[in-house]
Amino acid sequence: MGVIVVVGAQFGDEAKGKITDYLAAQARYVVRTGGGPNAGHSIHLAEGAVVLHQVPCGILRAGVTSVCGPGMVLDPKALEEEIRTLQERGLFRGELIISERAHAILPTHLVEDAWEEELRSATNPTAVLGTTRRGIGPAYADRYGRWGIRFGELIRPAKLAERLELLYASKPYLKNLPDRSQVLADLSEVATRLAPYVRPTEPILWSAVERNESILLEGAQSALLDVDFGTYPYVTSHHPTSAGALVGSGLPPSEVTAVIGITKAYATRVGAGPFPTEVAGDMGAYLQREGGERGATTGRLRQVGWLDLVLLRYVARLNGFSSLALTKVDVLGGLDEVPVAVQYVTPSGETLTNYPPADAEELARVTPVYEKMPGWPKFNERLVERIRSEGAAALPSTLKQFIDYVGRETRVPIEWVSYGPRREQTVWLGRSGGRTAAAGISAWAG
Ligand code: IMO
Ligand code: MG
Repeated sequence: MGVIVVVGAQFGDEAKGKITDYLAAQARYVVRTGGGPNAGHSIHLAEGAVVLHQVPCGILRAGVTSVCGPGMVLDPKALEEEIRTLQERGLFRGELIISERAHAILPTHLVEDAWEEELRSATNPTAVLGTTRRGIGPAYADRYGRWGIRFGELIRPAKLAERLELLYASKPYLKNLPDRSQVLADLSEVATRLAPYVRPTEPILWSAVERNESILLEGAQSALLDVDFGTYPYVTSHHPTSAGALVGSGLPPSEVTAVIGITKAYATRVGAGPFPTEVAGDMGAYLQREGGERGATTGRLRQVGWLDLVLLRYVARLNGFSSLALTKVDVLGGLDEVPVAVQYVTPSGETLTNYPPADAEELARVTPVYEKMPGWPKFNERLVERIRSEGAAALPSTLKQFIDYVGRETRVPIEWVSYGPRREQTVWLGRSGGRTAAAGISAWAG
């Protein structure tokens, strides 16, 4: 079955966690390849909802090994807390391993994240990014500046002390940093408890590939938040793309069998940055309410908007999607019509269909042109039950029309539709036109 990459196709919060959890039923390994506690992956189990931030969602399934991959930046204290909560709830069912190459987010990074946002705000309020303030940007900056502390160092007390001294020395511009000896003492303690999880993870994954075991690379953040290909500077600090998933895991491109993009049937964005199809007013409030669009990490209300095919076509090519999972279609149930942006018109009158301006300000100035698709009914109990027993055939015909349309316009077949938060509320459509989905993944769900 090989290596399957799951990628967020919008601005985050597309229900990557839900789809990864669904696919994890067939996986042996689930690997997070980038980001850290900025992610909030909600999964609705019979036991109740669980929100994962740093632990890959394979943890919820016995027999699955979850890997915090080399590309991640992990907050050790928050990670320990997350592990403990999962254990207490009896949900820590799989195994967990942490790459020795993953970097630690330190208390200094949290201070720096807040300080940077204040600096932006004081200099130019429109420059504020609205980060999650989890220390992500500064941790990646230190990683690439080669000041960072890897988990392999974190768990060696003498090395940790040495690296921490250097890291502190690199930040003379930061006042009020937490006391270094206290930070060292705290970190050493947490590190002792996390040490048993820390491993070289690439050889484990390579052996899994040799044994033909399935590996799922769980996306976090999303392609439009990619530090290079997203809406820079309103992005996160790593590469939440299919290419980034390989760098962040140490798996080679030749082993990838499928790249699955996850998109909602509408769109959301949290934090600052351009959002061409944003909807305000009553309709915006309606979508926020129906979709429960509040950040799982920061509790912020998400801005909402319509599906944007210009961005989706761009992201599809950037990542090489073999298929798409379309999520939260139930949220739009009951609307008379569902607008979808099919192209942009720029202020100079130019038409754009599949490549948005790289410049965030230019992107903010485009005018989307909408195609209005007929709406579909609300997902009442009866409809949900019918889909569960009859499968995709029971989807409302106007929704099928919408699915075909999105597949045709993006040239990526829609392979799954998620019509509710629960695990079982996902339906497999098979290959629906456009490019052919990889056999492995189709066979999985079929
Ligand atoms: P999941 O995995 C939504 C956004 C932040 C901010 C920008 C930079 O749940 O989809 P950062 O703290 O990463 O430096 O913030 O990126 N952001 C997310 N938005 N979902 C996420 O993750 C996000 N991770 C980061 O809101 O605009
Ligand atoms: Mg989120």
